[in-house]
Amino acid sequence: MISNEMAQRINTQINREMYSAYFYLGLSAQAETMNLKGVAAWFLAKHGEELAHALKMYRYLIDQDARVQLSEVAAPASVDGGVLPMFERTLEHERGVTATINEMVDFALSAKDHATNIFLQWFVTEQIEEEATVKDIIGRVRLFGDQGQSLLMIDNELAALAKQIGQGAATAA
Ligand code: FEO
Repeated sequence: MISNEMAQRINTQINREMYSAYFYLGLSAQAETMNLKGVAAWFLAKHGEELAHALKMYRYLIDQDARVQLSEVAAPASVDGGVLPMFERTLEHERGVTATINEMVDFALSAKDHATNIFLQWFVTEQIEEEATVKDIIGRVRLFGDQGQSLLMIDNELAALAKQIGQGAATAA
């Protein structure tokens, strides 16, 4: 059993994870319109990951006899200006998610809620990996450029990364 306040914070985070999924779905659709199949596949794979994050929290609430309260998911804004701004916006978004996860850990620790603290550690580690991956992609786009052959190379690399995410999800299931 966890406190109502903790449950409410996890419910809010479920909404953020659902928004993240929606945000990535929007970027995937944008990449499709640019004919960047690899970029689109990567964002679509991220969409699936975010849904899985929301479900992980949903399951935790149920396991803890807490109430799941679903709320409206906001529409994501599109990102103009090409591939680089799409990934820069992604990093900014994930940094925001990291901050909210950290706030939840702070709350769990202050409430001596050891179970939720342990549960949230998975997300703390996940955010480190997510931010690092996006920083790496941004670094490569900045190094090689986001036009012509370079864009094709980045698109191919992201297609391969998307497959890895899919394999990871299949292994974790
Ligand atoms: Fe579920 Fe990308 O944080």
